[in-house]
Amino acid sequence: MAGYPRSYFKFAAALSLALTAAGLTGCDGLVGTGTPEHHQRTTEPEILQRGERLYQLHCAACHGDQREGAENWRQRNPDGTFPPPPLDGSAHTWHHPYWQLSDMIRYGAEARGGTMPSFEDTLSEGDTEAIIAWLQSHWPDAIFEAWVRYDRNHPTREDWERDMGEPWVTH
Ligand code: HEC
Repeated sequence: MAGYPRSYFKFAAALSLALTAAGLTGCDGLVGTGTPEHHQRTTEPEILQRGERLYQLHCAACHGDQREGAENWRQRNPDGTFPPPPLDGSAHTWHHPYWQLSDMIRYGAEARGGTMPSFEDTLSEGDTEAIIAWLQSHWPDAIFEAWVRYDRNHPTREDWERDMGEPWVTH
């Protein structure tokens, strides 16, 4: 997913704009040719089951069986860290582009002062993709659409860093 060159996204954005202008966005075939795969939610049962199994095994202890997060997730712990947020679409997970969601799951948040552990040695790229697919399969449509727009505007780390005016620290 991280491998798309920037020009590709410019092309995808232009194409999607052109199609919107032409009133053709309802045509999946056409839009699909210029859009990264993750901009459409998968309905593949194998991927979703794999994502759910891995989530329950590795993530549910902190983020909750129903992806509801900690009740007081907005409030800092006494040591200044934050509790695990919900991943069910009710929090701000949609405000992380695809590369950033993958990065967070792969490397955790310790480099940014958080407590989310790294899964670099536990989960493969395919595992991470399956978990994200499963999580997103539960997001309300409006949240997923907002996420797609956000992802389209920040397709790479460089885009995000430029917009935020700060580096994304991984290690
Ligand atoms: C030990 C507890 C713990 C485990 C296990 C854990 N997380 Fe987290 N996660 C957190 C915390 C705490 C945060 C908030 C960032 C921070 O301060 O570390 C977080 C943040 C996130 C975020 C960013 C959400 C947002 O809205 O900003 C995602 C996505 C995420 N976790 C996914 C996962 C997935 C997927 C797994 C399982 C592979 C997982 N987490 C396992 C504690 C955990």
